[in-house]
Amino acid sequence: MMKTEHVIHFCDARKMKGVYDGSVDLVVTSPPYPMIEMWDNIFSRIDPPIGIALKKNKGAQAFELMHKLLDRVWKELGRVVRTGGFACINIGDAVRKIGDDFCLYPNHSRIMSAMRENGFMSLPAIIWRKQTNAPNKFMGSGMLPAGAYVTLEHEYVLIFRKGGKREFMTPSKRAERQASAFFWEERNQWFSDVWFDLKGARQALLDKDMRKRSGAYPFELAYRLINMYSVKGDCVLDPFAGTGTTMLAAMVSARNSVSCEIGPEFAKIIDSRVPGVMELADTCICERIKRHRDFIAERVAAKKPIKYVNGPHGFPVVTRQEVNLSINPVRRVEKIDKNRYAVEYGVVEKSEADAAPPVPHSDDKASKKGGLAKKGAAIPGSQLTLFGA
Ligand SMILES: C[S@@+](CC[C@H](N)C(=O)[O-])C[C@H]1O[C@@H](n2cnc3c(N)ncnc32)[C@H](O)[C@@H]1O
Repeated sequence: MMKTEHVIHFCDARKMKGVYDGSVDLVVTSPPYPMIEMWDNIFSRIDPPIGIALKKNKGAQAFELMHKLLDRVWKELGRVVRTGGFACINIGDAVRKIGDDFCLYPNHSRIMSAMRENGFMSLPAIIWRKQTNAPNKFMGSGMLPAGAYVTLEHEYVLIFRKGGKREFMTPSKRAERQASAFFWEERNQWFSDVWFDLKGARQALLDKDMRKRSGAYPFELAYRLINMYSVKGDCVLDPFAGTGTTMLAAMVSARNSVSCEIGPEFAKIIDSRVPGVMELADTCICERIKRHRDFIAERVAAKKPIKYVNGPHGFPVVTRQEVNLSINPVRRVEKIDKNRYAVEYGVVEKSEADAAPPVPHSDDKASKKGGLAKKGAAIPGSQLTLFGA
């Protein structure tokens, strides 16, 4: 039976003693944002000269000191991430008036430089577009030229790789990679360089107020990145865990995780989210499968080819690379120690998938690959239905 482990260290991520050299396959994180006011206190507490610089209206100096602090975490990533591993960093730039000067503090470019200095190479980044309809969003001199500022309505997900491409050398490693595949249509959406509002039922484990106060990102953001840049059984690190969103996404995606968080007050919040993981996983898988089902139905209606059938689940897929894709439902979540959890996963039994009637297929010749796609494949022991109902 597949099992994963998840541990949280309540420590300063500038020294992640509990995380071994080269033990991390993927980092998914969001640091406190330099020069965004909600993070001033935490930066100043860790490094008091930051508070002094802010009080003296020395914006550029405060910005640099905040980044010097984060630089030490990026250096730690250079140590703990293995060659071929990825790091995805969600960050927004800041606009702020300090004294008489209003300016942009370009956090994303400062972090890109720092990561490169620590052995990572930059890959194309994602712009996460977070449109706001607030009437006061425009800053500056209204309709009069030369004195207004463009509204910041996006953040970044910076993507880095340590060294060259990851190799999958053994048959079992290649099999794990294939089982971790995503759908063709997900590839088309996820690997686009602009992501629009990431909403979804999966915010449910955190109320809106707590999300705002903690700077938590949406579950969907972490879930996508984990599925894009790691395989099942990998280790995902979040050095700035906050409410533990990355850990939850790792649990749902059948990856191990390790997290660091400086604020001990987050222990309770993270612990309170864990019992909801089974339901979260069910919702997440259901939504994913429903989207795939709708996509296939549209493709069939448009008489576009669907050449393959997925083995584990029995539904039609577009490419050969999706044939072994398998999504594991969460069966059990257990607290095994203080700040440490274990998760067990099930598999979809083919016999149950086979029991269901076939869906129409747009390419009969191709359906020979694995038989016709089946409707109504259920995940045993779960409320889920994988393809149609
Ligand atoms: C933007 S929040 C992360 C939110 C998280 N992604 C979530 O979904 O809840 C940044 C977090 O980093 C923590 N933090 C700040 N400095 C830290 C440090 N030096 N080491 C570890 N954690 C730190 C803060 O307490 C805060 O919870």
